[in-house]
Amino acid sequence: MIKADLTPNEYDEFCKFLEQHCGIVLGGSKQYLVRSRLTPLLSEHNCESLAQLVKKAMLTSERTLRSTVIDAMTTNETLWFRDQYPFDILTSRLLPEFEKLGRPLKIWSSASSSGQEPYSIAMTCLEYKEKNPGALKFGFDILGTDISDSMLAHCKKGEYDKLALSRGLSAERLKKYFKPSNDNCYMVNDNVKRHVKFRSFNLLDTFNTMGHFDIIFCRNVLIYFSPTLKKQIFSNFSKVLNPNGYLMLGASESVNNLTNDFKMTRCPSGIVYQKE
Ligand SMILES: C[S@@+](CC[C@H](N)C(=O)[O-])C[C@H]1O[C@@H](n2cnc3c(N)ncnc32)[C@H](O)[C@@H]1O
Repeated sequence: MIKADLTPNEYDEFCKFLEQHCGIVLGGSKQYLVRSRLTPLLSEHNCESLAQLVKKAMLTSERTLRSTVIDAMTTNETLWFRDQYPFDILTSRLLPEFEKLGRPLKIWSSASSSGQEPYSIAMTCLEYKEKNPGALKFGFDILGTDISDSMLAHCKKGEYDKLALSRGLSAERLKKYFKPSNDNCYMVNDNVKRHVKFRSFNLLDTFNTMGHFDIIFCRNVLIYFSPTLKKQIFSNFSKVLNPNGYLMLGASESVNNLTNDFKMTRCPSGIVYQKE
């Protein structure tokens, strides 16, 4: 018989551990989320209770169990061309500004989940180049990063089932950028894939190894973080953005009252932040 719940004390300890390792603030009443996401891991890790599993994850020096637990607690919801307006802003405002760049344009999708965001960015850039011959002559490189190893494996494979493809992707783009693979799935074509590299990165880590970017997408992840961590991450984004570079946040996210490193730029379809 599995002992399903954590005591209030154990829950508080787990919340602290989670925030410390990935930034996510669970808040006071998410016992149900811990239960539903971690119970499936119990038998695989020979644990008889959630308390035993989280204790093991918190105490282990071994990365695998810790990252499996963190992975299970992250929300990976995503879709193609999510919210549409960031991709409209990319086409109408950002790419025209960068189109004469004398080097490859560098874009970072910093919480890439299963890859829909970085691949949507790549498709947008390819379509821009098609419509504007001679633009982005030196090409464009997109880096997708995430804390979740399972999401990164999905990103690298670039294979999606019909349900995932039905979320935000037009029939025209499906035909143009994918080829059928096994089991009713489709694989992203190499001409899109070759613009996108993936690697593991925790937004709480030092940004020293990241290089520099012209545009950063950080969408629908900082909503789970505390204001203190958001401040730290905005400051780090500003350091790795090239002068006049842009930061694209999620529809419900903003830098207001957290940093003066960015100025808000209103475009007809939505908001983007530019490095001051
Ligand atoms: C809701 S998804 C957002 C995906 C995409 N940006 C979008 O807007 O559709 C959030 C992603 O953030 C990742 N994540 C959570 N904490 C993170 C951290 N500390 N560092 C990097 N990625 C993190 C999760 O693994 C998850 O894939």
